[in-house]
Amino acid sequence: MARFIFPKWTNALVPALGLAGVVVPFYIIYVVAYGFSPDTTHAGYQPPQPVPFSHAVHAGELGMDCRYCHTTVEHAAHAAIPPTQSCMNCHTQVVPDLETLDPLWDSYETGEPVEWIRVHDLPDYAYFDHSAHVNRGVSCIECHGRVDRMEVVHRQESLSMHWCLDCHRDPDPRLREVEHVTDMDWGLDKTPEERLSIGEELRKLNHINPSQDCSACHR
Ligand code: HEC
Ligand code: HEC
Ligand code: HEC
Ligand code: HEC
Ligand code: HEC
Repeated sequence: MARFIFPKWTNALVPALGLAGVVVPFYIIYVVAYGFSPDTTHAGYQPPQPVPFSHAVHAGELGMDCRYCHTTVEHAAHAAIPPTQSCMNCHTQVVPDLETLDPLWDSYETGEPVEWIRVHDLPDYAYFDHSAHVNRGVSCIECHGRVDRMEVVHRQESLSMHWCLDCHRDPDPRLREVEHVTDMDWGLDKTPEERLSIGEELRKLNHINPSQDCSACHR
């Protein structure tokens, strides 16, 4: 008898189940559309590094260009982490006896690379390409923040799909001339309206049209 199998109180669940039937598919669409992935939405992630390398000293005070060390950033998908030799161009002479440089000397002598810990790491199913951005006038600062002021690098942005798409849908406020991509101070003297009109002009001039197709980032 039906009423023993489904006691009367279960009637109250019927609207709730109906609601779930509507909400769950929307939730799934939301997750697919906006990239709700708690694993990778670690803005602020800041692992300690084997050598206390400071971007604030090197890129900030000493004014070194990002590309001195991250040599492949304009030519390849990945931005190379510099080999020990790049550091030793200076540190065989500059503060060579500093204790914190010991792991660097070990690496220099053994040829084993320093084991830097990755701060940014997208899941394998997502494809990213530095050169596609840097050569179209998207500065490091849009995605990594003021690295030139960081003693220890941290992750500035979530790197979620939602975040990628936000810019792909509306790049104008984040574009600049390619020659300024590593200039962390560029644009500070400009109003948002000025940035917008510079970006809009560059987008039209260079036919910039970031893809929103799934296959651009999932190959
Ligand atoms: C501009 C790049 C970009 C485009 C376009 C894009 N995705 Fe993604 N997608 C990502 C990134 C990056 C992640 C990893 C996000 C993370 O780690 O949080 C991701 C993650 C996902 C995930 C895993 C679950 C999640 O939300 O993290 C699914 C499913 C997904 N995308 C489906 C799609 C579909 C379907 C489309 C087309 C409608 C699409 N993506 C278009 C960049 C993109
Ligand atoms: C003197 C060499 C040097 C210069 C110049 C330099 N970097 Fe780095 N960068 C490193 C090293 C070494 C690491 C790895 C250790 C760390 O994370 O601090 C690194 C790490 C990073 C990371 C994190 C990589 C990861 O693991 O995800 C980012 C982002 C970054 N640099 C951006 C920049 C930007 C932007 C500039 C220019 C403003 C710059 N770097 C200038 C040497 C340099
Ligand atoms: C262009 C020259 C140059 C290069 C290349 C260079 N450094 Fe330095 N580094 C300096 C100078 C100058 C100082 C400041 C020394 C002082 O404090 O008197 C410094 C300081 C340091 C310090 C001391 C801590 C601090 O924050 O002051 C560490 C550690 C260090 N560098 C690591 C590295 C590593 C690792 C690399 C390679 C990724 C590197 N450096 C590449 C010039 C350089
Ligand atoms: C449009 C956003 C964006 C811009 C612009 C950008 N990066 Fe990145 N960067 C990322 C993402 C996303 C990752 C993680 C890539 C991965 O895991 O495959 C990353 C990773 C890195 C890494 C770690 C090594 C690697 O490639 O995985 C370094 C170093 C780095 N970026 C430096 C730079 C420098 C220097 C610039 C400017 C010249 C720059 N980035 C511009 C988004 C950006
Ligand atoms: C600040 C703006 C911005 C952010 C953030 C951004 N992109 Fe882009 N992306 C662009 C621009 C601009 C282009 C160049 C489009 C062109 O050349 O027409 C581009 C191009 C690309 C391309 C080359 C294919 C194409 O669309 O032409 C890929 C792949 C890509 N982005 C993936 C990603 C992924 C994955 C993320 C997030 C992890 C991301 N982007 C974040 C602005 C951005």
